[in-house]
Amino acid sequence: MSSRTAASGSATATGRATRAVIPAAGLSTRFLPATKAVPKPMLPVVDRPVLQYIVEEATSAGVTDVLLITGRGKTSMVDHFDRQPELEERLAAKGDAARLEAVRRTAELAQIYTCRQTEVLGLGHAIAYAESHIGDAPFAVLLADEFPDESAPLLPQMLDLQAATGGIVIGLVEVPDEQTSRYGIASLSPDEPPPEAPEGAVTISGLVEKPPPGEAPSNLAIFGRYVLPGGIFEAIGRTKPGSGGEIQITDAIALMMAEGTPVHGIVYRGVRYDTGVPLGYLQAVVQLASKRDDIGADFRRWLTEFVRTWQE
Ligand code: G1P
Repeated sequence: MSSRTAASGSATATGRATRAVIPAAGLSTRFLPATKAVPKPMLPVVDRPVLQYIVEEATSAGVTDVLLITGRGKTSMVDHFDRQPELEERLAAKGDAARLEAVRRTAELAQIYTCRQTEVLGLGHAIAYAESHIGDAPFAVLLADEFPDESAPLLPQMLDLQAATGGIVIGLVEVPDEQTSRYGIASLSPDEPPPEAPEGAVTISGLVEKPPPGEAPSNLAIFGRYVLPGGIFEAIGRTKPGSGGEIQITDAIALMMAEGTPVHGIVYRGVRYDTGVPLGYLQAVVQLASKRDDIGADFRRWLTEFVRTWQE
């Protein structure tokens, strides 16, 4: 890795995005007290922190450059993607090739850059910190508390679609009525998405951040994946505080949409892990542990027995 502070790079306004921004400076109140001193994206799922799954998701989609928006007390997120020479030497001396490879790999995944959000004033405000790094190039945003199963990725189709339209592409997921007030919710337009759009693509005509219960225009919630054009920064600058008194990326996207930028969504139908809340986190741990080649079989056996005795 090269952990650098954000600096402007060779930005191009068109083409498939190769940069990603991961806003990870939030206060993570839904997971207190665990997240008082440990950043939520560093919570482990089996033996990798959530953030590593997310960086791997980005790099598997062709992203080579990742900007982590961090904050006070969150430098462990950046350290995770650095080399650890002492530890590496120890593992090499012990001949523990597998762990050595696992420890080194995190430093080789991508160019990791970092910048600090000094005040936590919302997701749009966090993304605005990326402007000097991104320039006017399109880029992906991955929220650090949810991710798709790696067998059914979403980001590659989103990057392709954004390169085709030059507009905005959002990941969507269907949620039950009682959960719509936790998310940004999309309204759909009857307009067909462009011919090159993948299955599940829709044209969006409206977006509202965390509508009150019973007032959501649909059940299609924003899954924390976005591919945005560089023009979003100027739109964020004009966005007034919205839901929760914060500068919302949903509102900045809605502003660009109202001014003519095409906004498409891709409805995700695969397995989505929501590690932002304790229940979803536990489900992710169980699901991903069960699938592991090394411990999966033993874990599934134990879990089956555990559930059987629990039911008696
Ligand atoms: C954020 C976004 C929201 C989106 C959600 C997905 O909300 O503002 O539009 O639906 O992520 O997880 P948060 O979870 O940060 O409150």
